[in-house]
Amino acid sequence: MLKLLTIIGARPQIIKAAALSRIIQTKFSDKIREIIVHTGQHYDDNMSQVFFDELNIPHPNYNLNVGSGSHGKQTALMIEGIEEILLKEKPNCIILYGDTNSSLAGAVAASKILVPIIHIEAGLRSYNKSMPEEINRIMCDGVSTLLFAPTKTAFGNLVKEGFKKKNVGPFSFDNPKIYHCGDVMFDNSLFFSAIADEKSTIVKDNNLEQGKYVLATIHRNNNTDEPVRLNALFRAINKISLENKIKIILPIHPRTAKLLSQNLSSELYSTIKTNELIKIISPVSFLEMIALEKNAFLIMTDSGGVQKEAFFFKKPCIILRPETEWVELVKSGSAIVTDAKETEIIKAFEKFKKTKRFKFPDLFGDGNAAEFICKEIIKNIK
Ligand code: UD1
Ligand code: UDP
Repeated sequence: MLKLLTIIGARPQIIKAAALSRIIQTKFSDKIREIIVHTGQHYDDNMSQVFFDELNIPHPNYNLNVGSGSHGKQTALMIEGIEEILLKEKPNCIILYGDTNSSLAGAVAASKILVPIIHIEAGLRSYNKSMPEEINRIMCDGVSTLLFAPTKTAFGNLVKEGFKKKNVGPFSFDNPKIYHCGDVMFDNSLFFSAIADEKSTIVKDNNLEQGKYVLATIHRNNNTDEPVRLNALFRAINKISLENKIKIILPIHPRTAKLLSQNLSSELYSTIKTNELIKIISPVSFLEMIALEKNAFLIMTDSGGVQKEAFFFKKPCIILRPETEWVELVKSGSAIVTDAKETEIIKAFEKFKKTKRFKFPDLFGDGNAAEFICKEIIKNIK
C-alpha cells in the first residue's frame, strides 16, 4: 500500500484535490492510502470547509491552521508544520497542486528530507516573476520527481527548461519524469456539471436570466493591491453594466472584499454600491460557481481556474491580467487578455458581443487525468 501525503491550503487546491481523492476512493483504495494536510492558508468556511462538504473530500488528517501573513512568515510556518508531519508519517511521496505558498512550502519541506514530490499542474509559466505564483511553480517543478503538465504548452515549457521528454526509470529528484496528462479541473468540471444543474439554485436566487449576465471574479494581488488597477477594473465593470443594461455578478474573494473601500476612489466605491446592475456577493461553493459559469453570457476574471472553466463551459472570457499561462485559451479566440485596462476590457466585451461562434477545441484531456496520475504514481513510486 502506497502512503501518499496531499498538501492543500488555498481554495483552488482543495477543489483540485477532489478529483484525485475521488479516484483513489473509487478505484485505488486497495493500493493508495491518502493522508491530507491542510495548511490553513484559506480558513473562512466559504473558502475551505464548503468544498469538503460539497465535493466529498475526506476530512483533513492534519490542519496546520497557519492563516494569513506575509509570504515569508506564512510559508515558513507551513514548512515547519509539514516537515514534522513528513517525519512522523514517512509517506512514499507528497502531492502538490499548482502554485500557492502551500505548494511551495510542501516542496521545500519534502525536498530537504528526500520525500519524492509529485507536482500536479506542472510546467505552467507566465514568464512574469513579479507574480508570486510564478516563483512558486518554478521552485516546485525544480524539485519534483513526477511532473504532470495539464497542457501541451506546459509540457513544452518543461522541455525548454531542460527536462527530458523521454527517459527511463527509476525516477528521482535527479531523473524526473514529465507527462502531458490533461487537467484534473477538467475532470472535475465534467463530473460536477450535472450535479450543479440539479442542486444549485443560485442563478434563480439572484434573479439572473440564462445567457443574460456577466460573471466576474477579481483576486490577484496586483489587481487588488494597486489602486490604479482596481479603479480601472471597476470603472470598466460599471460602464459595461450601464451601457449594455446587463447584470454583473461578482462573488468576491475576501482579499478583494477587504480592499474595495480602501483602494477604490470614494466616488467609484459609492457608484458601484448603488449600481443595481452590479451584484457583489460572498464567495460561493463550487457547484454554485459552476452554475453561474454555465449560465453566464460572458466571464471576466483574473483567476487561473475560472478562465479555464469559462472555456470548459464554452463561454467567452476576458482575462484581467497582463498575461496568462493558459495561452491555448487565447489562441482559440474565446479569451482575450486585457490586463486591468478599462478601454481594452470594454473593447473585448464589444468584440465578444458581435462574435457569433466560438471554437472550443479539446485541449484539456478526456476527463480522466486523475486516473492517469494515480496509475503512474503506483507504477513509479516505491
Ligand atoms: C492565494 C494564492 C493564489 C491563488 C489564491 C486562490 C499564494 C501566493 N497565492 O492567494 O495563487 O490564486 O490563493 O484563491 O499562495 N483571506 C481571508 N480569509 C481566507 C483566506 C484569505 O480573509 O480564508 C484574506 C486575508 O486578508 C489574506 C488575503 O485574503 O491576507 C490573501 O490570502 P492569501 O492566502 O495570502 O492569498 P490569496 O490572495 O488568497
Ligand atoms: N471558485 C468557487 N467559488 C468562488 C470563486 C471561485 O468555487 O466564489 C472556484 C472556481 O470555480 C475555480 C477555483 O475556485 O474552480 C478558482 O480559484 P481561485 O480563483 O480562488 O484561484 P486561482 O484558480 O486563480 O488560483
